[in-house]
Amino acid sequence: MKKQSILHLGIIMLILIGSSCKPETPEVLKEKDNGIQTPELSLQYDEKIDSLIALMTIEEKIGMLHGNSMFANKAVERLGIPELTMADGPLGVREEISRDSWAPAGWDNDFATYYPAGGGLAATWNTELSLRFGQSVGEESRARGKDVLLSPAINIIRTPLGGRTYEYFTEDPFLNARMSVPFIVGVQQNDVAVCVKHYAVNNQETNRDSVDVLVDERTLREIYLPAFKAAAVEANAYSFMGAYNKFRGEYLCENPYMLQDILRDEWGYKGIVISDWAAVHDTKKSLEAGTDIEMGTPKPFNEFYFADPLAEAVAKGEIEEAELDKHVKRILRVMFNLKTVDGVGQKKGSINTEEHFQDAYAIAAESVVLLKNESDLLPLKLDGVKRIAVIGNNATKKNALGGYGAGVKTKREITPLEGLKGRLPEGVEVQYAEGYRERYAENEKAVFGDITLNGPVPINELEPELVEQALDAVRNSDLTIVFAGSNRDYETEASDRASLDLPYGQEELIEKVLEIDPNAIVVFIAGGPFDIQDISEKSNALVWSWFNGSEGGNALADVLLGTVNPSGKLPWTMPKKLEDSPAHATNSFPGDDSVTYEEGILVGYRWFDTKNVDPLYEFGYGLSYADFQYGNMITDKSEYNEEDTVVVNVEVSNRSEVDGKEAVQLYVSAENSQVERAQKELKAFNKVAVPAGKTVTVPLSFKVKDLAYYDTAQKTWVVEKGEYTIRVGASSRDIKGEATIVIR
Ligand code: BGC
Repeated sequence: MKKQSILHLGIIMLILIGSSCKPETPEVLKEKDNGIQTPELSLQYDEKIDSLIALMTIEEKIGMLHGNSMFANKAVERLGIPELTMADGPLGVREEISRDSWAPAGWDNDFATYYPAGGGLAATWNTELSLRFGQSVGEESRARGKDVLLSPAINIIRTPLGGRTYEYFTEDPFLNARMSVPFIVGVQQNDVAVCVKHYAVNNQETNRDSVDVLVDERTLREIYLPAFKAAAVEANAYSFMGAYNKFRGEYLCENPYMLQDILRDEWGYKGIVISDWAAVHDTKKSLEAGTDIEMGTPKPFNEFYFADPLAEAVAKGEIEEAELDKHVKRILRVMFNLKTVDGVGQKKGSINTEEHFQDAYAIAAESVVLLKNESDLLPLKLDGVKRIAVIGNNATKKNALGGYGAGVKTKREITPLEGLKGRLPEGVEVQYAEGYRERYAENEKAVFGDITLNGPVPINELEPELVEQALDAVRNSDLTIVFAGSNRDYETEASDRASLDLPYGQEELIEKVLEIDPNAIVVFIAGGPFDIQDISEKSNALVWSWFNGSEGGNALADVLLGTVNPSGKLPWTMPKKLEDSPAHATNSFPGDDSVTYEEGILVGYRWFDTKNVDPLYEFGYGLSYADFQYGNMITDKSEYNEEDTVVVNVEVSNRSEVDGKEAVQLYVSAENSQVERAQKELKAFNKVAVPAGKTVTVPLSFKVKDLAYYDTAQKTWVVEKGEYTIRVGASSRDIKGEATIVIR
């Protein structure tokens, strides 16, 4: 051993011994306003980190800055620095992927809990469930030895066609931020970093690798950034993922405005930026703009921009070694905070447990949205029912895996059919008929206008034999349930949908079923909006569920049978037709080389309300088996100043015999504003349990500062003085009470 290395080893021993003798102070836990223990990146290891960096060669530093396998950078073993390990993603910890290709590694111990997709979580409007989701999947990540979970995915849903709508939360920046923060905190409580993605304005899959997103500054600040800001500032997210697309001419992974000015300088972000896989396009620009780790697809890892080309740039003096140190330091800071360097005191986690399946169940149970329930067809009345016809491919379709992108290898995915069979009382027989099949035209790609998309082209002709079997089952049964909608092969990363039509001829099938049994219950399982206007008119009972995790089928059966009272509310607008949606009404999707967000701040319901366009089902909509009546609504004052918090109390009574939960929503309208404002904006919500026959007082509050708009001239948030109308209701359009307040 060379003298130098012996010396190095000695120093490392000292550094490490130093760290293990003294019991590590646990991560700094900060009790935030919400009372949740929020881990924060501590700088207490910085000295130790500086001494380690002083020992590292340029090669070792560069190894830490890029993927050296599909989901990890390179370890510096001689210094005791392990790899930083990563795994997708939003649906749960992804199965182990081979080190040098996308092929599954073929492990037999990488089974995990499949959690409800983002849309489902958002539809619960329950921040406690978001925390529970984070904690649960955080435990799974830790147990799988993953330091970074590539989740949550929180881009705004701009178009209903978006391929990743199912993964994303919502069209509303406030709901987005409120659901993101507890999730992040929950994950990070487990010594696992989140990777908040995809930063930013990654709102379409079409041309996602190259499209230049042009969005005005005010819209950027008010709509597309709030959840990212909350992730950085409130939740202390340890990592962000730089998106594929460009923003105002620069790729997001080499965008100094987004990575340095906003993220680090304005928001004070201390974590790391990891590129989306193969989203780096230039060594110097990207590193100097603030990307810390380049991850990517399987070209030889030494050919990555942050590999040999980086070494050459340093050798030529084009990039300073101090620049490398800056990024290595950030990465080590995250690693020390996660206790991955010496492993002392690191949480152990657990995976694939019954407890975690029940976490997935709890979220799924609160996510199901009851869209229509004429004559109280639901919950199912089983008196005298001997046979139930269950129709549709979606009764048996599994969604943990499928399509392009991250899924979960799970030991449990209860399908709707299994859920129902398991929950129905003895003596009720189920007759299942597939009715329609998931079929695609071979070698064809979907087309939107004159743009070819990557997605599959569904075959929409029904197969007569399957239809006959289905209709026979309906004729021979006392009750009918149709499971329709979509799946993860059809709604998929890397492609937007070409239309809102239900695929595979389902609409025709449902109409035929309804002709025989007008009271057939129609259940949609999907991630994003579809054109269900005709079916909605023709059917009497309509339920909406999601790609809903390991226990999705049980949760759905419990809602249909009434053991669970539905309390989900739509996290986005269901339009009557595509052209009603803002990106399409303004003809500004999907663009070509660039896309301009012409609708500006009027995203989602903001557009529908301001432009007086009726949606089919509005943002925040969802029925219950209980009968909620809204009573008195009182604001704590009528005049406020800029530092105040507005507290609103509203009484909600449950005039039924079943317990229920209600997501009470508060919207604000700025009257007489000097600038364009949306007709209403969500500013608070509170999901509460209201027992049968009881009245509860529901507190809702927001800071006067939250009424601000972003003033682009002054580059700051401005609260206009004057009158604001507060509207409280059961959805964005079902307003139950109003009050006027004045800001002085
Ligand atoms: C996706 C990311 C994902 C990454 C790694 C990319 O294609 O956009 O969301 O985390 O792949 O699988």
